[in-house]
Order: sequence, then C-alpha cells, then structure tokens
Amino acid sequence: MALGVRKLSYALGAEIMGLDLRKPMDDATAAEIRKIWLENLVIVIRGQEITPAQQVDFGRHFGPLDDHKSLPFYRLQEHPEIFLITNKEVNGKPSETKDTGRLWHSDHSFTTRPTMASALYCREIPSVGGDTVFTNMYMAYDTLSDTLKGILDKLEAIHDITTYAPFRKRNPEQVAEMHRINPPVAQPVVRIHAETGRKALYVSEALTFRFVGMTEEESRGLMEFLWEHSVRPEFTYRHQWKVGDLLMWDNRCAMHMAPADYTPGEPRLMHRITILGTPSGRVYQEAAPQKAAA
Ligand code: SIN
Repeated sequence: MALGVRKLSYALGAEIMGLDLRKPMDDATAAEIRKIWLENLVIVIRGQEITPAQQVDFGRHFGPLDDHKSLPFYRLQEHPEIFLITNKEVNGKPSETKDTGRLWHSDHSFTTRPTMASALYCREIPSVGGDTVFTNMYMAYDTLSDTLKGILDKLEAIHDITTYAPFRKRNPEQVAEMHRINPPVAQPVVRIHAETGRKALYVSEALTFRFVGMTEEESRGLMEFLWEHSVRPEFTYRHQWKVGDLLMWDNRCAMHMAPADYTPGEPRLMHRITILGTPSGRVYQEAAPQKAAA
C-alpha cells in the first residue's frame, strides 16, 4: 500500500495518510510506516477511533511492548501495556501523571533497556494547548564542532529518575521505592542508533546532571550548554493535538516535552504504549573514594 506522507516541520515529524487502525495491518504496511518513521523521527496518524486493544496491536508491529513496571502508576487493568497520562482525577484522587513530561527527556533513559518508541493516542484535549514538543537529537549532535563531538563521543552521563524535579515532590517512601526499582544508570552521551547507524546526543535536562567521573559542579557548564543546544527552535516540532491523533516517536534520536500550556481544570487524557528497545548503558555504581596514602 502506498501511504500519503506530509512533512510537519523542517527538523522532524511527518503525517501519514491513508490508514485505518481499526483494520488489521499487513507486514508490508508496517514496514512502510517504519521506514517513514525512521526518516522523520515522529509520525502522526490522524482521525483514528481505536480501542486500547487496537492501540496495543498497532504497537506490536514495531516490537515488544513494555508493561510499565518501572513507572507503576496507572496501567489499564485489562491492558498493562497502556500507561495513562492525565490531569483528571483517578479513583477520586489527584492524578499521579498530571505533570508527566514537563521537562525535556527521552523515555526510560534511566533504565538499561530504554524505550525504542512511544506511541501516544489522544482521547481528551483542552480547548487550547496541551501540546507536545519534539526535538531532533541527530541534528543536535551533527551541528556541534568536531572537537566537541570528539570529547562527547568518549563520555557517559548518569541518568537518574529520582533527580527529576517534579518527581522530588512525591513522598519520600515513593522516591525510595523508585530508586530501588530504578537505580542510576550510566548512558553514552552520544548514542549510535541501532537501525540508522547515525549518532545522536543522549542527555536531557530532566534526568542527566553529571558526567561519569566528574562532579555535578564540574559537569554543569557543558551539561547546560548541551541542554540548551539540543532544543534550538530549528531542531523542533510542536504538535497541537486533536482527539483521535496517534503519534509515535523514536526515543533513540528524539527528545520530547509536554508544557503545562493549558487551563489546569480542562481535561487532558492520553494513552501511551512504549515499545522496548535494545539494552543501552549500565547500572552505575559510584567508585569508592580513594584512601590517601599514609
Ligand atoms: C510523555 O510521554 O512524556 C508525555 C507526553 C505528553 O503527555 O504529551
């Protein structure tokens, strides 16, 4: 099947036309979608009226799905592969996921099997805003000087979910439990994409504060430069959601962020599936301090 494709910005993003995800998808169509996705990093399929089971079926064409044990807040009971992101009350209580994704990040970079792809399906959206912004981390890397690329190619950075600012507002037991499930992980600062072979920057303002072998203070200047450089406007695409949009991004070469750009009382509800990637990084254990010679 030849699919219609329309680019959404200079840096990344393409809309795919001609799909009805209520119908079973053949392997050739899935392969064509994958090709468009690898080229554009973010794809959008609009106007879909799909059930959770149909969203899960779509995701399975691209790889095994996560059951979200590393973020054990809201999984749909019938479909643990679906993670609920909402500002609506859940079981009569304020939602644990209402501030999800407020800072730039790549999903699950704080684990040793980071997410390959995430696919968000929009069920409810405020009258204005509730957008998600994406940035192209190949471009972020490619536009650096050769000297800085050479330095970064050799570095690792520590990714730690418990340093994520909105997360620190949680109660201490929850933070301790998350630290137990997700100990800090050292990831390469420059990640080589397993399918395209291209290099992409892999640090984020949400989760990485220092390089392995350096203190936070020593890391700060370069880290802050990389955070800012990564999200230069010309590398980004801002998605304005409509109910029925299904959007899938590649976490190996794109970061994203969901600003709080809407009236707080207006409902926003998304269903996310996360497609597992290949192993990357290692659990980080601080080297014991060296004893001074007697
Ligand atoms: C996320 O996956 O970080 C949330 C994105 C969004 O809700 O737009």
